[in-house]
Amino acid sequence: MNDQLQDNIVRGCDKSLSAYNVTYKQSYHSKSLGAYSETIIKHIIPAALFFRHITSSRYTISNKQDFYKNFSQEILQTIHSYQNLTSQGMPYTDIYLTQQNFLHNLFNQSLLINQATSQHTIHSTILRPIRILDICFGLGYNAMLGLETFQCCEIYSPEKDYLLPELLKFDYTNIANAHKILNELQKNRVYNHKKQTLYFLHGNALHILESFPQGFFDIVFQDAFSQAQNPELWSKQYFQKLDYITAKNCIITTYAKAKNILESAQHANFSTIKYEHGSIFYK
Ligand SMILES: C[S@@+](CC[C@H](N)C(=O)[O-])C[C@H]1O[C@@H](n2cnc3c(N)ncnc32)[C@H](O)[C@@H]1O
Repeated sequence: MNDQLQDNIVRGCDKSLSAYNVTYKQSYHSKSLGAYSETIIKHIIPAALFFRHITSSRYTISNKQDFYKNFSQEILQTIHSYQNLTSQGMPYTDIYLTQQNFLHNLFNQSLLINQATSQHTIHSTILRPIRILDICFGLGYNAMLGLETFQCCEIYSPEKDYLLPELLKFDYTNIANAHKILNELQKNRVYNHKKQTLYFLHGNALHILESFPQGFFDIVFQDAFSQAQNPELWSKQYFQKLDYITAKNCIITTYAKAKNILESAQHANFSTIKYEHGSIFYK
């Protein structure tokens, strides 16, 4: 087996492992944050806070703009609390438990989405799990930490490379069930646990997106390689496709901050907010 990953491992500042992709000439994650922390900071925290708000009974369309005025501030405060959770010299098992508690408390979801209206409410009768589009699976951090955070969810992860056998040898010390999840994905391409489902969709994301109906997704983790290396997943047409397959309340989380990417998202009907660690696009 060609060990594309094992030969190119990168250990991040938070000690979690990522890898360098030789085809794209890029690491899967930022070394200065580390794979685990980058995922929490750039994707999980913004998405969970967004859903905490829109599933709150106080949230209405009329206070939507007020909410967004303060949203980047709230994201930054939560990131700050996350970064202060652990101290140097803390035993690894304590770090792991502290981080896991943080994720569980971030979005204590006993809530579901109202299927009929795509409004998010606790007072609905036809309910479904939160639907997440994960662009793309890569090493699986976004998908697996999404499972740790959203207790009732469906995650759809396209990925052109088939690296699951190699990922089984990867050290995901602080992700619960990582090997169980990867084993299931390798066997069946799908992982089910209680009210959670993760689909590994092997193939070109652009083709896979064609199979989803209008208004399907609530969250998109937009985590392709850079636009220079991976232009098809940052184009205007791509964001228009995302507009079509996302619900009327939805959030796209990303590390990207480039002006032309924000403009492409705006052109496709999304409002944009840029903050220190990335951007969010929402509608
Ligand atoms: C930055 S990595 C994603 C990291 C991942 N989110 C994680 O948590 O580990 C980008 C991934 O997109 C995949 N990719 C790039 N273009 C693609 C395409 N058109 N279709 C499917 N996968 C693609 C690459 O193979 C790579 O695994």
